[in-house]
Amino acid sequence: MSSAQYLQPDAASQTAATGQNVTSDKAGTAPRPKRVRLHHLSAAKTEGRKLTMLTAYDALTARIFDEAGVDMLLVGDSVGNVMLGYSSTLPVTIDDMVHHVGAVARGTSRALIVGDMPFGSYEADAREGYANAVRLMKAGAHAIKLEGGAARVEAVRTLTAGAIPVMGHLGYTPQSEHALGGPRMQGRGEQRAQMLADALALQEAGVFALVLEMVPADIAAEITQALDIPTIGIGAGPDTDGQVLVWSDMAGMTEWTPRFVRRFAELGAALREAAADYIASVENGSFPSEDHYHAQ
Ligand code: KIV
Repeated sequence: MSSAQYLQPDAASQTAATGQNVTSDKAGTAPRPKRVRLHHLSAAKTEGRKLTMLTAYDALTARIFDEAGVDMLLVGDSVGNVMLGYSSTLPVTIDDMVHHVGAVARGTSRALIVGDMPFGSYEADAREGYANAVRLMKAGAHAIKLEGGAARVEAVRTLTAGAIPVMGHLGYTPQSEHALGGPRMQGRGEQRAQMLADALALQEAGVFALVLEMVPADIAAEITQALDIPTIGIGAGPDTDGQVLVWSDMAGMTEWTPRFVRRFAELGAALREAAADYIASVENGSFPSEDHYHAQ
C-alpha cells in the first residue's frame, strides 16, 4: 500500500492506546499519525523507522508531498535559490519566510512543518530570534530550524523555553557559505570532534532533531549513534535516522543537481515539453478544439 492511501477518506480511523489519533490501512498495518508530532519522530528513531523530509515553498507542491506521506516539510531558506532567483540563501528575509510558511501550512494537513530561520534573524540576539521564530509559528510552522553549533545554544534555550521546537543544522550550513569557503564537506580531521561536541551541545540545549548536511557518512553515523534525537541527513550517507532533499533537486526540475541527490523524476523536462506542446497547439490552432469550448 502506498503511503498516500493512508490519507484517503475511507482509511480506518482509530484511537491508539496512547490516546493519539492515528490512521491505518484496512489490514491494520503500519499506523501513521494524522498529524506528525515531535513524539512520532523520537519513536521512529527508537523503532528504527527512517524519517523523510522534503523542502516545500508553496501550497500546491506541499499538498502533493503531504498526500504522498512525507513526515516533515521544510520551508527552507533554499527558497532563495530555488524559487526567488537568488544565488544564495543570504538575501532571504523573515518576511519571505513568513509568506512561504503560510502557503505551505495552508496546503497541508499531516506533515510536521519546519520553518527555516533566515540569515541575520537569530544569530546576534536570542530575544530577537524568539520574536522572529514566533512570526513563523503564527504563520503555521510547527517548529523552526536554525544553523550552527555551540554558538546557538542560547538561542535554542530561549526558543524552547518559549515552547518553540527547534531543529538544529550542522555540517555545511549554507548561511555560512563565505566563512566556510563555499559548499564543501564538513567534519573531516580536526573538525570531527568539534562537530560531535556541537551535536551534543545542541541536543543538551533542547533541539528535537538535527540536520547533517555534507558530512562524511562515517561521521554522520557516529553522531547518529551518539544522539538520542533523530538525525536527518543530506549528503551525509545512509546511516542517519532520516533523509531530506530539496524537492526541485529530487524531482529533476533543474539541469544540474548535487552528486548526493537522486533524481526521482524528470519534471523539468516534462514541464518544458508540456509548455512547448501548449505553445505549438495554440499557434497551429489545434487548441482549443471543440471539446474544450462546447458546454458540458
Ligand atoms: O534550506 C534548506 O533547504 C535546507 C536543507 C538543505 C536542509 O536547509
